[in-house]
Amino acid sequence: MGKILSLLLCFLISNLAVSSAQTCGNYAFSSNEIYSTCVSLPVLDSHLHWTYHPSNGSVDLAFRHTGSATSQWVAWALNVGGRGMVGAQALVAVTSSNGSVQAYTSAVTSYGTGLQPSDLSFSVPRIRAERVQGVVVIYATVVLPPGGTSFNQVWQVGPVTNGAPAIHALDPANRNSVGVVDFSTGETTASGAVGGARLRRRNRHGVLNAVSWGVLMPMGAMAARYLKVFTVANPAWFYIHVATQTSAYIVGVAGWATGLKLGSDSTGITYDTHRNIGIILFSLATLQVFALLLRPKPDNKYRFYWNIYHHSLGYSIIILSIINVYEGLDILDPEKKWKNAYTGILISLGVITVILEALTWFIVLKRKKDDKRTHAGTNGANGHA
Ligand SMILES: *[C@@H]1O[C@H](CO)[C@@H](O)[C@H](O)[C@H]1NC(C)=O
Ligand SMILES: *[C@@H]1O[C@H](CO)[C@@H](O)[C@H](O)[C@H]1NC(C)=O
Repeated sequence: MGKILSLLLCFLISNLAVSSAQTCGNYAFSSNEIYSTCVSLPVLDSHLHWTYHPSNGSVDLAFRHTGSATSQWVAWALNVGGRGMVGAQALVAVTSSNGSVQAYTSAVTSYGTGLQPSDLSFSVPRIRAERVQGVVVIYATVVLPPGGTSFNQVWQVGPVTNGAPAIHALDPANRNSVGVVDFSTGETTASGAVGGARLRRRNRHGVLNAVSWGVLMPMGAMAARYLKVFTVANPAWFYIHVATQTSAYIVGVAGWATGLKLGSDSTGITYDTHRNIGIILFSLATLQVFALLLRPKPDNKYRFYWNIYHHSLGYSIIILSIINVYEGLDILDPEKKWKNAYTGILISLGVITVILEALTWFIVLKRKKDDKRTHAGTNGANGHA
């Protein structure tokens, strides 16, 4: 089990390393423009490339959004006096239904904005946009306002209806598309709904719960089902099963508690489905742990019903856990790389399950046959005697 777990962790880590290495700097622009810095923004499939000129405080930049559609607008903005949408000094690209792209600037003054063209509080000597193979790029030069090189940034994607930009969706990704960018150091931080410390707590919550509920618990169930069949592993399978599930439960409760804290701290966005499944899971798992203490002896006539109860509750917990890990990963990781890694782990566990299931049936059937043969042999001998 330990070996399998470490293999799975290696798989997860290599998966993450590959997906983060591919993202940013080696993108080839159709215009052959080269930028000295590139950051992948945490949500909405967006990247910011730029070159900062300290001599005149100007930045040549390219804001790139992949997976773009026609009848869609994209915007990237600095918010000089505040944070978030109101006050954003935006570079906008509007893709019409025929695929042509218009770029302009728009200073956002209210939540009811239609992103009408207007001048910004700083100078934008150059702006244009293009859309190539589903990738929209806004190219611009901005002259940074005085007061440093670090600014609040915000970016967004929304639909175009009747030729005009319309309100964007309010999904977690659309609400978390804010942060800080420092054009001189190249550092970016997410500072909006998902601030630095909060992001770390969310990641901790995600890792604790995905590992405990999403990986350890299914492995504990596999230990019970597939080790039992080997006579040498009796009664070891029982202790392995109890140890795995108990540690999964303890880590899972810790992860669950971090989730409650995150939930009570979050303002505005609530993740009701994820939260409710989490509460149900905690109750069912607690019941399952205490039911272990109440289990009848193997020869008790109620043991049969206890087994049915224990198995059905156990499988329900595993299914709900997997559903809730996916719910959580959708909230945590709009870029989907964690989700892909977790899917990879589940597929590996699934393949192992299929192999072990086949092996178990093979062993059980073979044992039955052998038993029959020995019985027949003994009876025959007796008969002769
Ligand atoms: C700023 O300076 C760089 C060279 O340092 C130059 O290439 C660029 O055109 C200048 N930009 C503006 C807006 O003056
Ligand atoms: C595409 O639509 C835009 C606005 O709807 C219009 O200005 C432009 O001329 C159209 N381009 C083509 C090639 O039809």
